[in-house]
Amino acid sequence: WPKDVGILAMEVYFPAQYVDQTDLEKYNNVEAGKYTVGLGQTHMGFCSVQEDINSLCLTVVQRLMERTQLPWDAVGRLEVGTETIIDKSKAVKTVLMELFQDSGNTDIEGIDTTNACYGGTASLFNAANWMESSYWDGRYALVVCGDIAVYPNGNARPTGGAGAVAMLIGPKAPLALEQGLRGTHMENAYDFYKPNLASEYPMVDGKLSIQCYLRALDRCYTSYRQKIQKQWKQAGIDRPFTLDDLQYMIFHTPFCKMVQKSLARLMFNDFRSSSGDTHALYQGLEAFRELKLEDTYTNKDLDKALLKASLDTFNKKTKASLYLSTHNGNMYTSSLYGCLASLLSHHSAQDLAGSRIGAFSYGSGLAASLFSFRVSQDASPGSPLDTLVNSVSDLPKRLASRKRMSPEEFTETMNQREQFYHKVNFSPPGDTNNLFPGTWYLERVDEMHRRKYARRP
Ligand code: CAA
Repeated sequence: WPKDVGILAMEVYFPAQYVDQTDLEKYNNVEAGKYTVGLGQTHMGFCSVQEDINSLCLTVVQRLMERTQLPWDAVGRLEVGTETIIDKSKAVKTVLMELFQDSGNTDIEGIDTTNACYGGTASLFNAANWMESSYWDGRYALVVCGDIAVYPNGNARPTGGAGAVAMLIGPKAPLALEQGLRGTHMENAYDFYKPNLASEYPMVDGKLSIQCYLRALDRCYTSYRQKIQKQWKQAGIDRPFTLDDLQYMIFHTPFCKMVQKSLARLMFNDFRSSSGDTHALYQGLEAFRELKLEDTYTNKDLDKALLKASLDTFNKKTKASLYLSTHNGNMYTSSLYGCLASLLSHHSAQDLAGSRIGAFSYGSGLAASLFSFRVSQDASPGSPLDTLVNSVSDLPKRLASRKRMSPEEFTETMNQREQFYHKVNFSPPGDTNNLFPGTWYLERVDEMHRRKYARRP
């Protein structure tokens, strides 16, 4: 099999406009700090009516291909993970084939994969599995994940966002997927789902969704640890796996506070598996050792003790990965990979070289996996790792160049999106100058629901 299959290059796209969460707190008449401190969100990106899931994915793929200067026929597989469904049959992938037209390359496997925020990870696994199989023809794979996360007026609305990430997958990658190490948990839950096909909005049981997320995290971490310890045993290493073995840890990020609690939760798992002389960090946790697991998901005292015990670890391993999520919000399938880009943009190649990055992917309904990347040792200038890190280093600058919109303008846009959702025979109103240069946008939907896109110069 090819060695070190993983991420060679990546590209992140987010909308060119945002609403400030402090403004939104005032507008929604909630207590100051509810969104900015309680949820840990400072800004939320949102799409105009000129953007849909196809345009987001067209933009991010085109930008990745232009930057890497890869010939279009070097791609043999293209997978899309999304839960922003505008057509029950026609895949976003088929729209992306438009980009390959001039190259004549139509021999590209892969379609769309959907289960809430997990589709991007399923696509990444599919791409890696293809590359490690007899069907691999030596070419690269592209994994694209993107979503528009919007909620009706109410408590969930400030946890919206939008964006897309494209990743070039190949062998000898600076971020290699660690083989044999995926801890997965899947079950049937109605925590967040989209049965209403006439609306962009999901049905959400917010509190249940948080419990489902944390329970899935526990299960995935347990099975990941079992698998790595088995590998270690075969290599003659006999000790428990703990958070110390993950230099960085990234999570699907519905809102940033959830991630801080999730990192704390991993520490709680380590604590519960430990006995006797435990880590100094666990000292404040002893009182919670005997709690029934089901009761630990809603215990506020435990929450506080865990956040305190894990603060330094969170700052070291996870905080930097939340930059994009803090400033742009939830990007559903692309959220985890936006976290990866943020992590890379806040560290030097030297810092990252040789480390293990743990990744937890969660999709409501539910499907979840915890897996890991091994970062290559070579951080020299011009190395694949150095090139990858440099390619995302402008993330903070790009975020700062977005346009701040008022809550009134944001609400008006949400109302327009409701009004135009699945409308036919129309051209979305709006000024394309409000989009970043090079952005694809929806030009027209004809009477047969066929969509036509154009690109802003
Ligand atoms: N200052 C500081 N903090 C404040 C505050 C203030 N003035 N007012 C409230 N808070 C805190 C609360 O104490 C609470 O924190 P803790 O949980 O740590 O105690 C936090 O702000 C949230 O407040 P509420 O508990 O009152 O919750 P809410 O009614 O505002 O709803 C939510 C929050 C459930 C997350 C809701 O926004 C929601 O449903 N979001 C969508 C679902 C979601 O994101 N689920 C996450 C897991 S599912 C998933 O991951 C898939 C996905 O992408 C959707």
